[in-house]
Amino acid sequence: MNQAIEKLLNDQVKYEASASMQYLSMASWADANGYNGIAEFFYAQSEEERIHMTKLVKFINERSGNVIVPALDKPKGDYGSLNELFEVFLENEIFVTEQINHIIYECLQHKEYNVHNFMQWYVTEQLEEEATARTLLDKLNIIGDDKSGHYLFDRDINMIAEANQGPE
Ligand code: FEO
Repeated sequence: MNQAIEKLLNDQVKYEASASMQYLSMASWADANGYNGIAEFFYAQSEEERIHMTKLVKFINERSGNVIVPALDKPKGDYGSLNELFEVFLENEIFVTEQINHIIYECLQHKEYNVHNFMQWYVTEQLEEEATARTLLDKLNIIGDDKSGHYLFDRDINMIAEANQGPE
């Protein structure tokens, strides 16, 4: 595999791992603050990001590349509001999408068509995740500071997220 592409894939391992830890931290914050539905949502997101990371690790190994399991920065652990929590979620997903688009671009430059093909799965996944993050943040912006609205949002978050993804 091209060295530049291998480096980009290893960077992506780190971004997916960081997202997993970030969402774990968000789940824990929600849990500690009485938002059980939001906690479950982020615990599940954290697991998903771990799967994204592992899929990359296995792919690099299949292609006889060198996997570098990264050290991670400490994730943000404290949030002033639900809006802030979901703003961080959306910002993180936008960042990951940009990185994936960059890998796709570089794959074409280096004629790494197998990697390009493999990365299409991530493109589809990011579309869904970014749309989910946007939908949830839009709902929160409508709710504003209304506490009973937050209660209902917490109760219904998984339904909202699933409805947003549509039929599989
Ligand atoms: Fe795997 Fe949502 O980035």
